Amino acid sequence: MDEFVTFTYNGKEIKLPVIIGTEGEKAIDISTLRRDTGFITLDPGYANTGSCLSAITYMDGEKGILRYRGIPVEQLAEHATFKETAYLLINGKLPTREQLTRFSVMLNDNSLVHEDLKTFYQNFPRASHPMGILSSMVNALRSFYPELDTFEEEINLTMTRLLAKVRTMAAMSYKISRGHTVVYPRPDLAYCENFLNMMFDTPVKPYELNPAAVKALRVFWILHADHEQNCSTSAVRVVGSARANLYAAISSGISALWGPLHGGANQAVIEMLNDIKANGGDYKKAIAKAKDKTDPFRLMGFGHRVYKTYDPRAKIMKKMCDELLETLQISDPLLDIAKELEEAARKDQYFIDYNLYPNIDFYSGIVLRAIGIPTNMFTVMFAIGRLPGWIAQWKESMDDPNWKICRPRQIYTGHTQEDFIPIQART
Ligand code: ACO
Repeated sequence: MDEFVTFTYNGKEIKLPVIIGTEGEKAIDISTLRRDTGFITLDPGYANTGSCLSAITYMDGEKGILRYRGIPVEQLAEHATFKETAYLLINGKLPTREQLTRFSVMLNDNSLVHEDLKTFYQNFPRASHPMGILSSMVNALRSFYPELDTFEEEINLTMTRLLAKVRTMAAMSYKISRGHTVVYPRPDLAYCENFLNMMFDTPVKPYELNPAAVKALRVFWILHADHEQNCSTSAVRVVGSARANLYAAISSGISALWGPLHGGANQAVIEMLNDIKANGGDYKKAIAKAKDKTDPFRLMGFGHRVYKTYDPRAKIMKKMCDELLETLQISDPLLDIAKELEEAARKDQYFIDYNLYPNIDFYSGIVLRAIGIPTNMFTVMFAIGRLPGWIAQWKESMDDPNWKICRPRQIYTGHTQEDFIPIQART
């Protein structure tokens, strides 16, 4: 039965339809509100605004649930490859063996990047942040791979190119930043193995793949693969809504992800833990600073717009962090500090009252450090993981019959009309 919300304004009854999702989430459809009443809605940060209908990812922030296309992320982390997860997100179903083989062949065929791109990398100043470089380079791909004739071909090839090349480009940027020879992708290696090999193999010291590191990377990328309408995904959808090309839309997603309140938090957590370590391990100061409303500092890796309980990804990440360090026989003092900090924060009334729990970024940096990824590459690792989600969300928006340019309104609070004053009369 159709549901409506009604309210009365100026003696007129306004009836707005209620939209109900497959998991029972409810929204009031306000698309006729302005036409019928002259009102718009005001929702800073879009905390109560649904921007689209989506069949890709389901999250329940109160219960700590995350599913891709209906499948719990815990099951994917346990059983799936990253490639299967990417296929699932983009195509809606897990691939058959034959579909997966075809997908793998396409990714392999497109994994090289144009040699001229190397010269771009060499001209960035040495201290450039890899996220800025990645965002620029992904945008530059449009110049190297111009639009194809048929729309279908353009979409499929662009999605494949991005999935195949961004991984190569990320490893390439690391090698070039170190002044090392670039390592090319190998057809005999799977997606995660290939990336680790491109990062760490050198002509004088062949890289030995460690199954524990490969597993950790696979799980890390699966856990990051999508998270419905988060900041960077919304950036991809907004830019895409102007009918900008997919490279440009993904490039904007990378820029949004760079921010420390979003994907950049994984780097910020390690920097915070290092600061605590440098101050003799006194995590209590960080907690006090985070609670101080006159101080802009926040406990990095804590809190989430949607999760008001433990982030289900953080649970898996924390467990994996323990397993990985034990298998690799690494003792990382930052893990001890992180655990003490978590324990103290979770007992603190401020964090209890605000429902602030560790999010995915709290333990992920320690996992990446153990694999050998440098801190300034952490958010790039997040971006590679999120790529399938961005692509799936962009594709879904394109297939949506109600796909409109994203163009919010505002309530103007500036001067009312004033006359122009000639410069000699201005005070
Ligand atoms: N430390 C201390 N206080 C916090 C924290 C934190 N980590 N997070 C939220 N709060 C407080 C805020 O100060 C605010 O208090 P107030 O209402 O008294 O002003 C209240 O909790 C609500 O915070 P908002 O910023 O309004 O919540 P929002 O949903 O907009 O922000 C966010 C969520 C950005 C993740 C926030 O929790 C934060 O800044 N966390 C630290 C950065 C971080 O870890 N980001 C990664 C998020 S996960 C991801 O994007 C992959």
